[in-house]
Amino acid sequence: MIVNTDFLSSDCARKASPVLGFERARELAGKHGTPLLVVSRSKLVETYWSMKQALPGVDLYYAAKANPDLNILSTLCAENAFVDICSSGELQAALLAGFTPDRMLHTHPCKTDDNLLNCYAAGVRWFVFDNELEAVKVKRLTPDVKLLMRLAFPAKSSLINLSAKFGAPIESALGLLEAAGRMGLDVRGFSFHVGSQCTDPQDYLQVLRSVRELWDAATERGFGLEVLDIGGGFPAPYTHSVPSMAAFGHVVSEGLRECFGGLPIRIIAEPGRGLSAECTTLVTRVIGKSERWGIPWYYVDDGLYGSFSGKVFDHADFPLVYEGQGEREVARCVVAGPTCDSSDVVCTDQLLPHLEVGELLLVPSMGAYCSASASPFNGLPVANTIGIE
Ligand SMILES: Cc1ncc(COP(=O)(O)O)c(C=O)c1O
Repeated sequence: MIVNTDFLSSDCARKASPVLGFERARELAGKHGTPLLVVSRSKLVETYWSMKQALPGVDLYYAAKANPDLNILSTLCAENAFVDICSSGELQAALLAGFTPDRMLHTHPCKTDDNLLNCYAAGVRWFVFDNELEAVKVKRLTPDVKLLMRLAFPAKSSLINLSAKFGAPIESALGLLEAAGRMGLDVRGFSFHVGSQCTDPQDYLQVLRSVRELWDAATERGFGLEVLDIGGGFPAPYTHSVPSMAAFGHVVSEGLRECFGGLPIRIIAEPGRGLSAECTTLVTRVIGKSERWGIPWYYVDDGLYGSFSGKVFDHADFPLVYEGQGEREVARCVVAGPTCDSSDVVCTDQLLPHLEVGELLLVPSMGAYCSASASPFNGLPVANTIGIE
């Protein structure tokens, strides 16, 4: 089947945009200080339901690693979402938000004993593995859990390859499945991840076709498979726009229909960024400025060690929004973070107007892999997070 992707063109593109305007930002900054991460619960709900609509019949397990903030987890819990956890810390955050263990999937393919035992003790029963030693660990500690086998597929259009470190190569998957079967483990399905910030949904189609072949081979050998986990990868807009959720999801659902339609199985996904990125905007303040070798430098109160850690670990390229966009003359400048580390530079080639100390900047799409990886380096606290309607 050929899926027509003409409609992935720019007219259905999603652009990054702040969840609040400058007036509201000033009011909230006055009350809570800066740097401030503002989570819009209504934006999150809208994103969740547009993903649900774009992927009919797919249960969404929000990948808490993207952002385990309580505003996000509790909002998704209230919408009846499921949650993907990887550690005891994420388990605690999910429990606090109201998720019950039966709505959790533990997706870490290489767990410490404590991680596995703590989550099992709390009642989590679905786990992931991708190699024989991990299967031996599960057999030794928690032999009655249900397992998904994670498969590796090289990322094609994705910014971040998640199959370099994890996932069984497809060629060895049947052998691993049989080894787990000999141990008496209960393997119920396969999972994969096309890589994070995937920009071409056709990548899912190619993977789904390979997984279907493996699925048939496994079923012929008597394995009772019932769950297909298509991972995350759904993109968020940053400085570049991405296809609308409907357009992206349409291609993925067509692939699911082509490869798995008619099978009585449960299909799930583990979206992180695709759910949480857009609902959060950073409000950051200019705390100083200078001119260095003829170029204006603006120092802001959040940087690479804080919310902009997404630039380092997640390779995200965040747009900076200033007040009066399009009305003020702009010039090339450098924007630097607040720490003493000279590598704490947010961008070196930014077009901004002449900014005053105290002026606010808004940074949209800051809800995934930003606060989750921030640190209080240099004794500077990480940004506060608040939820708004
Ligand atoms: C196992 C697993 N599932 C889901 C996700 C979420 O991926 P994304 O944010 O691309 O949706 C990740 C990201 O690292 C992951 O490792």
